[in-house]
Amino acid sequence: MTALEDSKIREQHAQIEGMIKDLDAHASKGGDRDKTTRMISILSRLLRAHCDNEEKVMMMKGYKYLPSHRDDHNRIFDTLGFIVQVCNDKNLDIDSKIGKNIEHLVSEHVEKYDNQMITFLEKVG
Ligand SMILES: [Fe+2]
Repeated sequence: MTALEDSKIREQHAQIEGMIKDLDAHASKGGDRDKTTRMISILSRLLRAHCDNEEKVMMMKGYKYLPSHRDDHNRIFDTLGFIVQVCNDKNLDIDSKIGKNIEHLVSEHVEKYDNQMITFLEKVG
């Protein structure tokens, strides 16, 4: 992985982590629902761009676990899509633990998939 690709992926990870923290701080204290919805939408878009970037790098480097990694990205987006639907339906309540739940969803992926990918990319350069 080039230094630029590496720093881009790490920078995006840090940005995503920060946004999830902000979302949790807002939602856990029962903050304004529209703002919660906006924060989740922005986070989803950023995550999509980040995952697309990861998939591009994995494809370029011939990473053999790309299919399962991509499946797990899709699992995250299926779940986030469902969460956005709930947010947009004013008849449904948003769980105050939504930030924590998203944090769990993403950190599970980082531990199982991203760390393995980063180790591979550091080896192949
Ligand atoms: Fe990933």
